[in-house]
Amino acid sequence: MGDIVEKKLAELSRRREEAHAGGGPTRIEKIHASGRLTARERIHLLLDEGSFQETGVFVTHRCREFGLDQQRPPGDGMVTGFGRIDGRPVAVFAQDFTVFGGSMSETNAQKVCRLMDQALENGLPIIGLNDSGGARIQEGVLSLAGYAEIFWRNTVASGVIPQISAIMGPCAGGAVYSPAITDFTIMVEGTSHMFVTGPNVIKMVTNEDVSFEELGGAMTHNSRSGVAHAKVSTDQECLLFVKRLLSYLPQNNMEDPPALECHDPVDRRDPSLDTMVPDNPKQPYDMLAVIRAITDDGDFLEIQPHYAQNIVVGFARLGGQCVGIVGNQPKVLAGVLDINSSIKAARFVRTCDCFNIPLITFEDVPGFLPGTEQEFGGLIKHGAKLLFAYAEATVPKLTVITRKAYGGAYDVMSSKHIRGDWNVAWPTAELAVMGPEGAVNILYRKEIAEAEDPDSLRQDKIDEYNDAFANPYIAAGLGYLDDIIQPSNTRPQLIAALRTLRNKRQELPRKKHGNIPL
Ligand code: HXC
Repeated sequence: MGDIVEKKLAELSRRREEAHAGGGPTRIEKIHASGRLTARERIHLLLDEGSFQETGVFVTHRCREFGLDQQRPPGDGMVTGFGRIDGRPVAVFAQDFTVFGGSMSETNAQKVCRLMDQALENGLPIIGLNDSGGARIQEGVLSLAGYAEIFWRNTVASGVIPQISAIMGPCAGGAVYSPAITDFTIMVEGTSHMFVTGPNVIKMVTNEDVSFEELGGAMTHNSRSGVAHAKVSTDQECLLFVKRLLSYLPQNNMEDPPALECHDPVDRRDPSLDTMVPDNPKQPYDMLAVIRAITDDGDFLEIQPHYAQNIVVGFARLGGQCVGIVGNQPKVLAGVLDINSSIKAARFVRTCDCFNIPLITFEDVPGFLPGTEQEFGGLIKHGAKLLFAYAEATVPKLTVITRKAYGGAYDVMSSKHIRGDWNVAWPTAELAVMGPEGAVNILYRKEIAEAEDPDSLRQDKIDEYNDAFANPYIAAGLGYLDDIIQPSNTRPQLIAALRTLRNKRQELPRKKHGNIPL
């Protein structure tokens, strides 16, 4: 090897090492001490061994202000590139907190934008590992412009390629809006925070005292705000969650989600389902137990398990085929639909619809939650989101009514009338405008008030009402239900119907886009 070539190779090695060094060993130690991994360690764990092809390795920022011209780390605090997860190609970017706090600059935003453009052109999922102090303060409007370019691409790519955001450190300002537009946001407990303005600014503006954790910690966004879809304990767990989530999603909206070989017999009947619904209609049971008794190997990846727990949503497989499941949860608030559960389920239904994932609905719903708090909070408009989402969805829609299907909630929960493809009920189903007590009070209030024995008359009328409506046969007779099935037979029946519907193609009228009530 000649001297010149040798020197050039040595220079490449030196420069590459520099690029890999991030903000230096002291800052890396600080990151490790906080329980976090570095951007490169995260990418290494996320992708298949040796599959990472980095882009923009030597990009540097162009800022001359505030002494920044003296510090130009190659890569500019953003690691971007392509790799594979379980053999499937993906695009990934990771903010390097050791370089200017992972802040977004003009040039590192350009790296992300280029990555997003290529992900979109090639139909690849994109995963963002976020750990950033937001817009790079020294760059002013240039960094804001960088963010806006990313937000625009997030929006254009929405519904075309899956976009997953892992929040793995403090994420402030612009660093939260890109994840907010993506399909899924996963937060690491204890080390990740999301907020538009931090505790110090809040103290200045509103005089409120709030800690980082309370304001924007993983539990806050998983249980209170509904901003996040999952919380995990460590960086490692977060990356495993991303991989698992991705296994249910297609590469893009032109493909189906990956099917797996199914080792759980497709004709497996589960006798426990026959006794799942209690005799007493007011007694709760666990819809998660119903779901797990039916899905392949009892597997279920629940999404937003801590938020609006009166509805359960998540991914599973049936006969190897990926499905999205929505279930009213009788264990929490009797499974009633309220503002938060409507928003949660509507978003999930739309996510499944844009990525060709069939929807299975398990229904046991006493209606919408009455009360001024709900009405003033816009229950009408938020409940309409779920109705709109189900009505608009063109993926296969299968519905199993396990018990109550009352009132407007019956219509909303993927009923035949809004184009459910296969709607069945268990024999324990009750389809009615409302529950028996409410109905009797409205229909016979006067008679009951004037009766010698009001309680006895009320009970007679309730029994009469139950005889008429507390069954699925009227709806089945009208063709609103395709069949009434034995609960233990639900898995084989669902798999058979799914297979029938595998090539479903339903066209809606051409339009720019619908106007979902936001
Ligand atoms: C430049 C930044 C930075 C930023 C942090 N750093 N944020 N540099 N621009 N936005 C630098 C720090 O100077 C420090 O540099 C290093 O990153 C680590 O920061 P620390 O503060 O030491 O870390 P920590 O104590 O962990 O606190 C992290 C933090 C805090 C909570 C993120 O740094 C912070 O509050 N940053 C500002 C957040 C913010 O308000 N950003 C602007 C948002 S506005 P050294 O050299 O010491 O290592 C925005 C607009 C977009 O984003 C709007 C779009 C809609």
